[in-house]
Amino acid sequence: MSRVHSKEEYPYVTVKLNVNGKDYEASVRPYERLIDVLRYKLGLTSVKEGCGRGECGACVVIMDGKLVPSCLVLAVRANNKRIITLEGLAPEGKIHAIQKAFLDTLSVQCGFCFPGVILAVKWLLDKNPNPSDEEIKEILGGHLCRCGSYLRFIKAVKLAVKYLQEGKVYFDIKELRSVSSAR
Ligand code: FES
Ligand code: FES
Repeated sequence: MSRVHSKEEYPYVTVKLNVNGKDYEASVRPYERLIDVLRYKLGLTSVKEGCGRGECGACVVIMDGKLVPSCLVLAVRANNKRIITLEGLAPEGKIHAIQKAFLDTLSVQCGFCFPGVILAVKWLLDKNPNPSDEEIKEILGGHLCRCGSYLRFIKAVKLAVKYLQEGKVYFDIKELRSVSSAR
């Protein structure tokens, strides 16, 4: 008769991850989730846990070019993958055009959903630099936001498209001041 193993009986394995352009090695148990490795072992706290079951979009990251909910990915399945989190969208001291557009349109309230939404929009615009309203709505539909406005999100995506078409990919962090003066 088989017996139930306690979690501690599963041996650690080493996974190699390239996150935001940096190489990492982490010791993980086979049942550990990617979200926990990113948040608690690598300190990338932009990755948020909402539902924990692939429904809210708060935890999404871009893994080898795919948008994936990190709460549903075992860390061992991310071995040797390239991962992008919100922290990797812009160099130190800068914000990405998509972030700037969301701030300019005053789209964000508490901001909990924000990292997942921004990464999803980045993924969309990488594939399709000028999406239709329907395509924007479809990508936003995978993200639950309890306190912001989806209409503003759509405006923000369109503003991001404009910035990127103008070649404005990054903005200096001091540009944030223009947001407070616009309120
Ligand atoms: S926490 Fe992963 S989809 Fe909600
Ligand atoms: S801004 Fe609060 S959940 Fe989206």
